[in-house]
This record gives sequence, structure tokens and C-alpha cells, in this order.
Amino acid sequence: MTELTFPPSFSWGTATAAYQIEGARHEGGRRDSIWDTFSHTPGAVVNGDTGDVTCDHYHRMPSDVALMASLGIDTYRFSVSWARVCPDGRTPNPEGLDFYDRLVDELVGRRIRPWLTLYHWDLPQALQDRGGWTNRDTASAFADYAGAVLDRLGDRVPVWTTLNEPWCSSFLSYAAGEHAPGHTSPTEAVDAAHHLLLGHGLAVQRIRADRPDVSVGITTNHTVADPADPSNPADVDAARRIDGAFNRVFLDPLFRGEYPADVLEDMAEAGLGRAARDGDFAVISSPIDVLGVNYYNGAAVAGAVPGDESPLVFAGPGGLPRRSPYVGSERVRFVPRGLPVTAMGWEVQPEGLTRLLVRLQEEYTGPAGVRLHVTENGAAYDDVPDAAGFVDDTHTRSAYVRDHLAAVHAAIEAGAAVDGYMVWSMLDNFEWAWGLAKRFGIVRVDFDTLQRTPKASALWYAEVARSGRVTLD
Ligand code: FCB
Repeated sequence: MTELTFPPSFSWGTATAAYQIEGARHEGGRRDSIWDTFSHTPGAVVNGDTGDVTCDHYHRMPSDVALMASLGIDTYRFSVSWARVCPDGRTPNPEGLDFYDRLVDELVGRRIRPWLTLYHWDLPQALQDRGGWTNRDTASAFADYAGAVLDRLGDRVPVWTTLNEPWCSSFLSYAAGEHAPGHTSPTEAVDAAHHLLLGHGLAVQRIRADRPDVSVGITTNHTVADPADPSNPADVDAARRIDGAFNRVFLDPLFRGEYPADVLEDMAEAGLGRAARDGDFAVISSPIDVLGVNYYNGAAVAGAVPGDESPLVFAGPGGLPRRSPYVGSERVRFVPRGLPVTAMGWEVQPEGLTRLLVRLQEEYTGPAGVRLHVTENGAAYDDVPDAAGFVDDTHTRSAYVRDHLAAVHAAIEAGAAVDGYMVWSMLDNFEWAWGLAKRFGIVRVDFDTLQRTPKASALWYAEVARSGRVTLD
């Protein structure tokens, strides 16, 4: 038996996102976001699920916060719904802000640190109607929205992250068609990526100017791409491409103020960089304090099958058009390695997290003096509740989190400046295109009764958070 001890200051958190848990679609002045429109589009979401009610957190927030406190969670990462706070995308709605005001008070009152994400994919539909992230104006609207939230909450929220996973809100949303708004245009995707980065930079500058005392950052999601056969040049090139299209296309602008030359070449046909104007990269690379890292799995990749001419646009599971999110590298193949998989079909590959964190430290955050924080990691499994609604996920979810915490520990030992970890997710919730079918929570939510029941993983995590120790068998 090995016991790993984390630094005393290490933070133990959980994460959620507004559209995934709040419900209350049209209450308090909220208007639709692109996820309301998308989830109500036939074929877009498994089982036709929507976020109209989901966990009903909007009405149950105080008891959800109390539950978190009872588990000893010290940091809660939540996102603000732009469509609640500025229903038309631009005009602040005091009633929408009131909800987050109460949430923050509740957290602070229970000694839980609020960690705020401004954008977890739920763009006001009113802005999508004017082009969404393909429209440069959305970046400045985002900075204004950030300012409105900051004015209300800046005195009590110590950590502000701008975007969650811009890869998803650009490539997966505008090229792959899998997420809202469900488009399949590589050109829109590269423009959206650029405007998301610009919006991030403008918001960082706004936050810094108004509240120099808070920590500012962004959360990016990453894969660790390995060549299926390291001796095959086509596979090595495939790994370079996926690393570029997933990781470096965001990390390089943020930390080096430019798109990587090879990614510009890979995405030349779609026009990566054509949306850039003079001065953009100085804004995008505005100094930050923290990089939030979301990691679920890596991938083994291989070069295209010679002569593959299958159509690039095809019908997705719900019949709607889909395309690869890997713009310019659509024919790269993802090769299963025989590792165990979660209910998402994602390989369980904890050592990838160690490699990722060490690499980020060495190549990006370390030289910039930026701290790392794992802002999401966790797993969906096909939970089986007992008659009382209790799920014993000791050998699935707890084991997944335990092994990834060991990977974080190893990264810290290797020199990565990682300050904390957040389990995705506090609650079972609306898992985007998968609807309510995929459960990531450490707390079970019965979507009929809305009853919350901590799973074995929640009780186990509470003990880890209390002791600062992880025991491996
Ligand atoms: C991430 C998202 C989060 C959740 C997890 C499973 O990509 O940020 O909202 O859906 O995946």
C-alpha cells in the first residue's frame, strides 16, 4: 500500500457549468442561449434531452452548496450563464446577476472558494443570430459582459477564468457540428477560435484594469497524442497534427502570441489566422495568473488510410451533419490501445495527465510564471443505484479519480506547479450532446425526483480532501 501526501495548500474542488445544472430556462429574465436552441433541435441531443430543468440547481442552490460543504470541498468552480446575465447578449439583467450574487454569498458563508468561469459554451442566441463567434463583435460583447459580472461579484470572487475549453466552442461547435450551434464549416471554426481567443484577451484586460487584486486565467482542454507506431513517419505526423489542432492552436497564441507555423499550414485551406488584425496577439497573450487544465484522456493516432476518399461531411447519430473537428487533418485515425474505457468510450490513461502537466510547465506556464490547476477530470460510468439511490462506484469513478490524482502527484514531484484539482462533476447533469444519459457526478441526481444522493466516490473524495492523502493499493 502506498500513500501519497499532497502539499498542505493543495486545493480540493468540484466543478459544474451553468447550462448543465441550472434549468430555469426562462426565469428571472433569462433568454435562450445557443444550447437551448440546439438541444431543442430534433436529432441534436441523445433522447431529445434538454437543459430546461436538468438538476434544477437554480432553485436548489442553497442546499447544493450545503451538500458541497458537508463533503469538505474547498473550491467550487461554476460558470455564469451569459444569457441569464445579459439576455440579449449586451444589456445587463440585474435579476440574472442576483442569482450569482446569492450563490457567491452562500459559498463564502460556507468557506468554499468561488472559482468563476465566464463562458462555458452558452452564448446568448441573440449574438448567434449575428454570427456568434464568427463575428468579431462577439469578442468585445464578451469583455463587456465580463465587466458587468465583475462589477457585481469582483469583491468576493478571487479567481476568474474567461473561457472553458475554447477547442469545444470553436472546432467541436462550428466544424464538427457536435455542439451548439451545430455548424460544419472549417472556416467558421478557425474564425471562431480566433475571436474566442480575442474575447479572452479583452476580458483579461478588463478584469485586470478593474480589479488588479483577483487571479485571472483560462481553462483549456487537452489531449496527449501519441503515434500509434512511433517508427511510422505517417503516425508521427498524425500525432504532430492532433497536438497542433487540439493543444498548440490555443496554447501558442496565449503564451507566445502567435499561431504555430505548422498549424497555420495544416489549417491554411480553412484560413486559420485570416481573422487576425494588428494588435490581436498582444491582447490574446495578455499575462494571466493561472491555466486551468481539463484532461480526460489521450489518444494514439495514425496516418490516413492510403486512398481514403470517404466523404468529409456525414450524418451524425441523430441524422444531422457532422464533420471532423480536426480541421485540415480530417483523415487522421484514432486507434484504440486496449486500455479500459469509461461509459463515454474514452480510454482511461492517467499517465497522460502527468506528461501533460509536466509539458505545460516546461513549455508554456513555467516560463510565463503561470500556475497550473486541474479544473476538470472525472468519468462517466453506467451507475447502478440501490433501492435507496446509493451508487457504489468505488471500483469505477473513485478508482479513476484516485489514479488521476496519483498522476497529478507525480507531475508535482517532477516540478509542475499544480495548485489543485477539481472533480468533474459535483452532480450528474446534462452532458451536452449526450443529454442526461452520461453521469459524471460524484453525487447522483434522480432526474425524476431531483433527489441528490452522494455516491461512494463523493464520500471517498471527502476523505481525501480532509486528509490531503490518497491511498493506492
Ligand atoms: C468537458 C466539459 C464539461 C463536461 C466534461 C465531461 O469537455 O467542459 O462541461 O461536459 O467535458
